Amino acid sequence: SSSSPSSSSPSHNATQQRLPGAIIIGVRKGGTRALLEMLNLHPDVEVAKAEVHYFNVEEHYSRGLTWYRAQMPFTLPGQLTVEKTPGYFATPQAPARVWNMNPAVRLLLIVRDPAERLVSDYTQVLHNRLTRHKPYQPLEELLLLKGHIDPSYKALQRSLYHQHLARWLEVFPREQIHVVDGDALIRDPFPELRKAERFLDLPPRISPDNFYYNTTKGFYCLLSSGHDKCLDESKGRPHAPLSLQAFKKLCHYFRKPNQLFFDMVGRSFSWC
Ligand code: A3P
Repeated sequence: SSSSPSSSSPSHNATQQRLPGAIIIGVRKGGTRALLEMLNLHPDVEVAKAEVHYFNVEEHYSRGLTWYRAQMPFTLPGQLTVEKTPGYFATPQAPARVWNMNPAVRLLLIVRDPAERLVSDYTQVLHNRLTRHKPYQPLEELLLLKGHIDPSYKALQRSLYHQHLARWLEVFPREQIHVVDGDALIRDPFPELRKAERFLDLPPRISPDNFYYNTTKGFYCLLSSGHDKCLDESKGRPHAPLSLQAFKKLCHYFRKPNQLFFDMVGRSFSWC
């Protein structure tokens, strides 16, 4: 991980770039960066720092596996390569493409309350538009049509987890997809990391001492070999405002889709 061979010379003996053995496929704004950085605390894990967007962007996919491998960190034999691209989860072509790369690859899906996720998604898009001086619409305008939830809103569709997961389960067995509770990861990261280590067949190396609550940030930050690291300010930023009335409509809207998702994964979450 941090004292990684990726920082040493690429020509070093046994280090080479390898295809990922595990991929964080989503969900967007679910805590994918936090999960990746936290897995990277493990000495047997090396991660691709930037999102790769191989299976969801045609221009990248058409370059083939040689290009994909070249985006990966250098690793020693026995180390696990992990990449995260939240866009994979909602991309119809991604499951079959990932399977064709390696049918034994392990998949991590980090989910979060879908209403909170939607507001987080909107907030990110809003922030990007504001920094590019582009016009924007208030969330309520996008979300509601004549007072009712507009099912065509893209960020709403990305929160319909059961629809996307159904496509992955047409290709991958349930056991090959580990679901991480993104809300639990925010509250207390260690237990979620321990479960992920187990799923990845890694010896337990991440410890509660790797995390401390940073009161200024209001989130857990990482500690590893004396280094202290918080995620950047785009992670855990204040959400755009939404009226309580609209938020309640959103929660009501998600009730059925959430139940379908719970049935699919065989567990439930205490979402709004
Ligand atoms: P918010 O910015 O809405 O709070 P992603 O990396 O998939 O884009 O997810 C971003 C989300 O990760 C943030 O959403 C934040 O809530 C969550 N998160 C989880 N653990 C975190 C941590 N330790 N530090 C900062 N953000 C964290």
